[in-house]
Amino acid sequence: MTIRMKPVGKLDDLPRTSLMSGETPLEEMPNLTKHVGTARLLVKRDDLTGLAFGGNKVRQLEYYLGEAVVQGADTILITGAVQSNFVRLAAASARKKGMGCHIQLEDRVPKNDPIYKNSGNVLIDKILGATLYSYPDGEDEVGADAHLNEVANGLREKGNKPYIIHLSPGHAPLGALGYVDAAREVLSQCAEQGIELDEVVLASGSGHTHGGMLFGLRALGCPVRVTGICVRRDAEQQHARISSRCREIAELLAMDPVVEDADIILSDEHLGPGYGRMNEQVIDAMRQAAECEGLITDPVYTAKAMSGFLERAKAAEKGQTLLFVHTGGTPAIFGYERELGAAFGTTG
Ligand SMILES: Cc1ncc(COP(=O)(O)O)c(C=O)c1O
Repeated sequence: MTIRMKPVGKLDDLPRTSLMSGETPLEEMPNLTKHVGTARLLVKRDDLTGLAFGGNKVRQLEYYLGEAVVQGADTILITGAVQSNFVRLAAASARKKGMGCHIQLEDRVPKNDPIYKNSGNVLIDKILGATLYSYPDGEDEVGADAHLNEVANGLREKGNKPYIIHLSPGHAPLGALGYVDAAREVLSQCAEQGIELDEVVLASGSGHTHGGMLFGLRALGCPVRVTGICVRRDAEQQHARISSRCREIAELLAMDPVVEDADIILSDEHLGPGYGRMNEQVIDAMRQAAECEGLITDPVYTAKAMSGFLERAKAAEKGQTLLFVHTGGTPAIFGYERELGAAFGTTG
């Protein structure tokens, strides 16, 4: 039985194209629950969204590609970190819709390891036949966008119809709509399974997943605590980002703002040495998820979020129910093979 949730503003009227393989599972984590020994722990398996190794970005791309299809685009352009899951999934989505893809990879992580630069997501980008460019500065969102605009102009001169997926502030956060919809899916699954959530924990990067989920839950009248685990910026910067994302989502959906500043809860204690860089905490969270549940997390996003989730779980009371949103990112483990190989040892 599928329990239908009420519409959220104009969400169902906005352009969208199908990329997901259907709803993702919402599962119990019985071993991790026993291991931590406090609350009931659940996982929303958005690592299983279906396309090219899955992940949260498939939900987000349904809205970007939806707009691209309406505009008659034939090529998708996007910028991201070298081991970006978003660019890998943008390339796969473009291919699924019969389009080309140009990808700009930014040097956001100080690493000269050839495995990092060529394996994992980068290898998949190449298999998908994307045209790759590199951009030397990973913290210059405006500059990276401007360079992408130049590539788009070149394509227009050749007669192509490019569509740019802009991620920097100031552009409509279409991707967040995927998580407004995911909030509907989570609440419908909870209603079907008789689950009452006390807290949702997820990685907070561009803010589309965090902002969209928080907005969706509040718009549907659900007051559950949503904790964002910072993976790129500190909590203060990320708070401002989520706050403006939520205002922009309200505008897109022609709704009143439903998220108060006090609703935006962030922890930057799991950021480690910085974006895309790991420490013992990250390895420990990866190990616990893998050994307790057979769940693979990645060192850039989901292991950091898992580390935050485990901390929240330890602080929870018996009888509470906590949901971890597994946002994917698993191909990146192959880009980090050197560090992970050393951390997890060898057999024999
Ligand atoms: C695997 C994974 N998890 C989480 C995130 C963070 O999501 P968002 O950028 O929507 O905040 C990303 C972003 O790229 C990601 O690739």
